[in-house]
Amino acid sequence: MIATDAPRIIIAIDGFSSCGKSTLAKQIANALHYRYIDTGAMYRATSLYFLRYHVDLYHPEQVAAALPSIEIDFRKHPQTNLQETFLNGENVEEEIRVNPRVVSIVSDVSAISEVRRFLVKQQQQLGLQKGIVMDGRDIGTVVFPKAELKIFVTADPKIRTQRRLDELREKGQQTTFEEVLANLQKRDHIDSTRADSPLKKAEDAIELDNSHLSKEDQFELVMEWVKRAIFNQGSTSI
Ligand code: DC
Repeated sequence: MIATDAPRIIIAIDGFSSCGKSTLAKQIANALHYRYIDTGAMYRATSLYFLRYHVDLYHPEQVAAALPSIEIDFRKHPQTNLQETFLNGENVEEEIRVNPRVVSIVSDVSAISEVRRFLVKQQQQLGLQKGIVMDGRDIGTVVFPKAELKIFVTADPKIRTQRRLDELREKGQQTTFEEVLANLQKRDHIDSTRADSPLKKAEDAIELDNSHLSKEDQFELVMEWVKRAIFNQGSTSI
């Protein structure tokens, strides 16, 4: 256990798609009673808005005009206590994960600098009070370059594909291993080669390859890093 009066820190978790970042981030946030922010959900909700209102991604004026109308927030479900994403007051948690049109444009949407500036500003505001675990692609490099703990998660692409496939099938989506792998590779490519804030490991991030780690072992390992990071902030009791 970590003492309740221990200094509160910012924990940045970055990495490729379907590496289990959000599971890990949620586990840490629960253990520390920190806020968890899924920045991927913010890019997904923005994509959904663009689809619904027919905003042309390749038309910068249309994108700029649409952004101020987008309000994204996270709320806990009263029964399950799970965090859900709201777009202009509507619960879009399910749709942003399973709508194939969202999935197919989100990497392109997240490559638009105007969109990134808009969302990064909100993410930075959320971190002002510390005590936050945020996951995404540019958290340790751009959003919180001074985060007290940065973790860069990786895993074998085939293992990531299988995990994503299981997740989709659980949600009733019919798809194949090859399709999921191709989509993942495409997203990896766009995410890590885009001009603005490409996915890359921050120099001071700890790399975590979880291909062969159980969720429990991964959590145990990471909590040791968390304790050390908090201790380094001057806490005497952890
Ligand atoms: O983590 P995710 O799969 O929900 O992310 C969806 C997309 O958003 C993915 O293509 C990468 C992008 N993204 C990003 O560019 N920057 C972030 N901080 C988070 C997500």
